[in-house]
Amino acid sequence: MRFNQRERGFTLWFTGLSGAGKTTIAEIVEKELRERGRRVEVLDGDIVRTNLSKGLGFSREDRITNVLRIGFVANLLTRNGVAVIVSAISPYKEARDQVRRRIIDFIEVYVDAPLEVCAERDVKGLYKKAFEGEIQNFTGVSDPYEPPVAPELHIRTDQETPQESARRVIERLEYLGYLWDPEEAEDYHWSR
Ligand code: ADX
Repeated sequence: MRFNQRERGFTLWFTGLSGAGKTTIAEIVEKELRERGRRVEVLDGDIVRTNLSKGLGFSREDRITNVLRIGFVANLLTRNGVAVIVSAISPYKEARDQVRRRIIDFIEVYVDAPLEVCAERDVKGLYKKAFEGEIQNFTGVSDPYEPPVAPELHIRTDQETPQESARRVIERLEYLGYLWDPEEAEDYHWSR
């Protein structure tokens, strides 16, 4: 049983404002999971929007379609033992909950930083444009973000480093039984 755990798939779903740190944390977690021998796939909103969701905009309807498409692919991978990491704003609770209902092994991580902090970071220069009205329907500025009510993990990226956040994600995966701990397996082996 314990050995089967090794290939137990899951979807780690990072939701939060643009610039909150979803992609940064996802990259660290991805590396850690690969080092542990896991097969990993990352579905990042920015990248998905150049292929699977190409042509979709940022209306409520299009964002929900985007999230459901990502969820569909994540489910296919998850049920085949892949460690899936999703990083998308996914602002609507309704869409996230719909995905949660479809994916049994779903771990929602709220990547949280105050709007002012995200806007201050302005990694892509989009907040400046949004505040100046050059970009419409920008999440947190002129479009809604509905925070998760009961996420499996809540991370405050204004209060800890990306490494600390990533560590908490890994610890949560361990706690939930998704990661195979070689030391524990060794004990199991010797106790037989
Ligand atoms: S979601 O709302 O549909 O989940 P997704 O994560 O795929 O969004 O894409 C968000 C990315 O698109 C942002 O990181 C940003 O680079 C870009 N973007 C462009 N326009 C907007 C906008 N109006 N609101 C939010 N993000 C935008």
